[in-house]
Amino acid sequence: MGDMNKFPSVFESIDDLTLEQIRSLLTVSAQNKIRFQDRQFAPYESYRKYVVATSFLEHSTRTKHSFGLAIQKLGCMYVDFNAEKSSLQKGESIEETLLTLWYQGVDICVLRTSVSNQLSEFKNNPPIKLINGGDGINEHPTQALLDLFTLIDQGLELDGKTVTIVGDSKHSRVTHSLVRLLPQFGAKVILCGPKEYLYEDKNVQLMTNLDEALAQSDILYMLRIQKERHNSPEYTKIYESYNQNFGIDLAKLKKHNKAIPVLHPGPANIGVEIASDVLKSELFLGYQQVVNSVYTRMAILMAMLENGDKTIGHKPVRL
Ligand code: NCD
Repeated sequence: MGDMNKFPSVFESIDDLTLEQIRSLLTVSAQNKIRFQDRQFAPYESYRKYVVATSFLEHSTRTKHSFGLAIQKLGCMYVDFNAEKSSLQKGESIEETLLTLWYQGVDICVLRTSVSNQLSEFKNNPPIKLINGGDGINEHPTQALLDLFTLIDQGLELDGKTVTIVGDSKHSRVTHSLVRLLPQFGAKVILCGPKEYLYEDKNVQLMTNLDEALAQSDILYMLRIQKERHNSPEYTKIYESYNQNFGIDLAKLKKHNKAIPVLHPGPANIGVEIASDVLKSELFLGYQQVVNSVYTRMAILMAMLENGDKTIGHKPVRL
């Protein structure tokens, strides 16, 4: 397993992982998919001793529940930490809250927060092992990994292929993880959307015309407009013309005479960025992403539970 024993205790960004660690996560995801396929429940005996918590300080359907299922299918005990009913509301800091979970016996906390880079402050002295379940507009690394696993699992090799991410890439934490991940597997990444929504990065090409981008694309990744992060007319003025210019339907795809697989991390706004005829077509891999999310998140939990720093928790200052 090579450098798996150096798996980070705080997994915040795709950049925290080596290529070897990423490859290993893909291999274990595939093994999990075989073991747990067809709704099988075959927990690993060796994981019964572990406790994993989720703490979602922002809304979620897919990420939180796939972690909850991954935790329980592995055989670990699952604690859903209800932040709204916790002492966070009494002004307790996140660090003290996480330390409390650690001392109560929780091994890992999966954290979703609206604060970008919030996990960085815990990297030097982690109060508990942490997985980033999405932090503000920064990153969503477990989503990017399960997306990559889905592509490979579908037999779609990325080397030399062009993946076009369409939409509000500037405010999309999923995109910010994908642009760090996909080029490591030989993919070229195009970001397409209204210029106000485009994220600038050395690893990507920017395009503002969907049809021209489609002509160059092998794989399409659609994004929801991140309205909750829009605080200026510069971003909101685009809503009205968005579907016409950047929404996809089967007719727009068929024009290009090639079968372009379409991914979406969900939640999708049907009729805005994607039409229901695409969701119902064989080109759409969104439900496969959901299926695979459990297997890849299991692989990440396994890597983190088995490896890494054993000296978590506060190190008291000597008096
Ligand atoms: C994404 C998120 O929350 O960042 N969803 C997800 O985790 N599957 C994308 C989004 O909200 O648009």
